[in-house]
Amino acid sequence: MTNYILANRKDNPYLPFGDHRGAPFYGKDILSVKQFSRADLDYIFGVAHEMRVMVERVGTFDLLKGKILANLFYEPSTRTSSSFTSAMERLGGSVIPINEVRYSSVSKGESLPDTVRTLECYADVIVLRHPEVGASVLAAKYARKPIINAGDGIGEHPTQALLDLFTIIEELHQVDGLTVTMLGDLKFGRTVHSLARLLSLFDIRLHYVAPEILRMPAEIIAELDAKGIPQSEHTRLEDVLAETDVLYVTRVQKERFENPEAYESVKGAYVITPETMKIAKQRMIVMHPLPRVNEISMELDDDPRAAYFRQMEYGLYVRMALLAMVLGKA
Ligand code: NCD
Repeated sequence: MTNYILANRKDNPYLPFGDHRGAPFYGKDILSVKQFSRADLDYIFGVAHEMRVMVERVGTFDLLKGKILANLFYEPSTRTSSSFTSAMERLGGSVIPINEVRYSSVSKGESLPDTVRTLECYADVIVLRHPEVGASVLAAKYARKPIINAGDGIGEHPTQALLDLFTIIEELHQVDGLTVTMLGDLKFGRTVHSLARLLSLFDIRLHYVAPEILRMPAEIIAELDAKGIPQSEHTRLEDVLAETDVLYVTRVQKERFENPEAYESVKGAYVITPETMKIAKQRMIVMHPLPRVNEISMELDDDPRAAYFRQMEYGLYVRMALLAMVLGKA
């Protein structure tokens, strides 16, 4: 039998099409923010910015015409799944949606490696969301086509972190020198795990505001500590809000709690209202990966500092950039 992994294009220096040799992400997986350098980010955001200009100018164009994306979601999703679909279709490609694994062979007991080996027969790239940490790494081990991690349990959500950082850059035009406050469920929230790691490439200060049982995992704090990032933990937002440039609010991840009483005890821990924001700077932004439950009141939506709806739109451009890059067209 041929060695399947060595036959894998991801490990193969002999790329099938000569004109992709210079493309840094061609054929690559996107599994964790740890794989990115600052130079990579400049490149990704440069492409994302071009995507924004093109969408505003022409809406849809044929960069990925004939390419197929398999959108494989083992967990619920509105934004991530539909923005990848929209990204692929705006680039002229098409999508195999598997949003409800209940109706696929997964419900017959098919393993993740077999499911991805099936889908890659029909698609050029696979976007995967899965409840287990490390699922996308496992999928990537078996797949010859690029795997994009769209959330692996409480692990990482690298494409969200990229769009979060792109939002900060587009809105505040800088990252170095900023104070970022992460609020809410920092234990189970994968978006803050990825974003904190990504921000550690910059000269920033981080505050973590969370109930005692939902603190940022110690290993992430240690990782950032080793890079010299100033971090501090709090339970009261008022202690740090006035100096905050980016307030990143998260939902308490109900589905990750083993004990429903523990969830009940923290679910309403923080609610951001116009009143809360009175002590915040005029030039700052409030972000949220969404969905929100009730941690940001709807009355805040008209405040120009509320960036969470614009953040979703930036996600489209970043995901268009990522698809074009891994398919060798950027
Ligand atoms: C987040 C997720 O799935 O981790 N949502 C998203 O992708 N925008 C956040 C969440 O579910 O709370």
